[in-house]
Amino acid sequence: MTIIKNDLFLRACKRLQVDRTPIWVMRQAGRYLPEYRAVREKYDFITMCKTPELAAEVTIQPVELIGIDAAIIFSDILVIPEAMGMKLEMIESKGPKLFDPIRNIDQIKQLKQIDPYKDLKYVLDAVAMTKDQLNGRVPLIGFAGSPWTLMTYMVEGGGSKNFSEIKKFIYNQPEAAHKLLDMISDSVADYLSAKIESGANAVQIFDTWGGILSPSDFEEFSLNYITKIISKIKREDEPVIVFAKGVHYNLSELANSGADVIGLDWTMTLGDVRKSIGDKVALQGNLDPTILYAPKEKIKAEAIRVMKSFGKGTGHVFNLGHGILPDVNPENLKYLVDVVKEESKLFH
Ligand code: CP3
Repeated sequence: MTIIKNDLFLRACKRLQVDRTPIWVMRQAGRYLPEYRAVREKYDFITMCKTPELAAEVTIQPVELIGIDAAIIFSDILVIPEAMGMKLEMIESKGPKLFDPIRNIDQIKQLKQIDPYKDLKYVLDAVAMTKDQLNGRVPLIGFAGSPWTLMTYMVEGGGSKNFSEIKKFIYNQPEAAHKLLDMISDSVADYLSAKIESGANAVQIFDTWGGILSPSDFEEFSLNYITKIISKIKREDEPVIVFAKGVHYNLSELANSGADVIGLDWTMTLGDVRKSIGDKVALQGNLDPTILYAPKEKIKAEAIRVMKSFGKGTGHVFNLGHGILPDVNPENLKYLVDVVKEESKLFH
């Protein structure tokens, strides 16, 4: 087993003592980097996901170019619906499209339960190759979408403005919805276990669309399945992070899901959340991603505000409150990383 030289991220996830706060950034392997765009000019997005050499290359870019404390494997949450049998395309400047969206039980019966070692072997190969090339410099994070967020894409067929199709589906066909959530949950649990077995040091579950549900619907259609997945993941001490965007209300329920770390978006005050659930879980976040458009003094002041809000001691993984935007100047991210590395020493 490779020894990880910079293990600050894993230590903070487990709330062990650190001498500074670690930082990584959602969507750090992406279009804001000219080096990513250079690879992307030659290959389409899905080819990049399916070619371990290319996935490894862009996964490592932010570690080498920006000095990030953890790598996250380059892939997408929608590889699971594709592996279950749906046709996926990334439409240029529009986002993902899943063809023949799911609207009834017959379509659900046509979907298959995945075997990650067969159907998503290319991701596992990318994880193993990246792990090898990182050679212990920083930990590697694996990820999946939550069942709720994946079902939302599978029913809407892509992004959505008001989520009418998924809401019609859960309110008119709740049994079919729960059947589909169960199938996706089994696939996600097996997939995350396989990623850990292939070398991921931590895994994150993205519940991007948790926040479109009322508190009780969140519990019924999202949280229950996240909790079930966490209990099924085969792991030793690899931390599980849950990022549920816009979920203000069920934070204490989320903290009881078995997750080691809860990711927060930028609309919450880190210090308040720490007071309510900080004795149960570590917290990740939560700088507003658009702060990276601001001048350096503003970036520094806001980064310090986030760290001050969390306060002294371990249990904080610095991150943005959602993914980095494609038109951010990479220099500004580098500046943020340097500020966090330097200024966070005061809090430990
Ligand atoms: O964080 C990382 O750097 C790892 C890679 C990663 C990608 N997608 C690469 C990607 C991760 C963790 C994801 C997760 C993902 N994918 C989520 C959950 C996270 C979130 O942002 O809430 C979601 C909802 C998706 C689905 C998806 N994939 C969308 C909506 C889009 C289009 C987004 C856009 O801004 O155009 C994608 C495409 C995608 N996934 C890109 C990247 C780098 C851009 C594709 C390109 O290069 O053209």
